[in-house]
Amino acid sequence: MTQKLSVEADWYYAMQEFDYAYRNGSAGGSPTIRTHMRTVRDRLAKALAADPAVESPEPKTKPVQAHLERALDNGLDGVMRSMIKAIDNVKSSLAWEYGYERMPRHIVTKYAYAELLGPSGPVVWPDLVLGLVLFAPRATYPAHCHEGITESYLSLSGHWSENDTGVYAPGSMVLNLPGHTHTITTAGREPVLLAYAWTGDRDSLAHPAMKFSRRSNRARPARGA
Ligand SMILES: [Fe+2]
Repeated sequence: MTQKLSVEADWYYAMQEFDYAYRNGSAGGSPTIRTHMRTVRDRLAKALAADPAVESPEPKTKPVQAHLERALDNGLDGVMRSMIKAIDNVKSSLAWEYGYERMPRHIVTKYAYAELLGPSGPVVWPDLVLGLVLFAPRATYPAHCHEGITESYLSLSGHWSENDTGVYAPGSMVLNLPGHTHTITTAGREPVLLAYAWTGDRDSLAHPAMKFSRRSNRARPARGA
């Protein structure tokens, strides 16, 4: 069933949480990150002003969802608790996906993503993609990049690393510019929940072309964070 965002209160507040995060969160002094955050909130502001449709998807499950409750519980203790609560309110209508035609076996039970806003919904908007990525403990998300898409990951729950260059906790933001290859690893004892935002042109957002690095090219990505 299709409704306007303004009457789908749980989805409306989930979008407001992204607005708060990209409006009030720190860019850490980075002009590049600041520009991306401004782009996300400008595009989201246009979406909110247009009161887009919400097409509640058929909920889709993936094995990693067994870790969602724990990730949300842990997130309630951190600085992203407000977004965690908003996600808790829409979790029953999320469609969790792999984004790959063929999945590397080691990640099948440890990863999935769910879109919240984008060209194919649930909140239907052509100029921005917002979503969630969930990882089990001790996951390695293979090296990949996004052509034509600027991606930010916003930490909501758990601890993780990208390209072995730092350890990120709730509230941290990591920016991946188009074509930047990145591998994600998660800590050994707790799950990780990230929000992500993609900016790019409409065609890139509607048909994201992801590439794995050579070492990981056994899997063919179709879509995914
Ligand atoms: Fe990514």
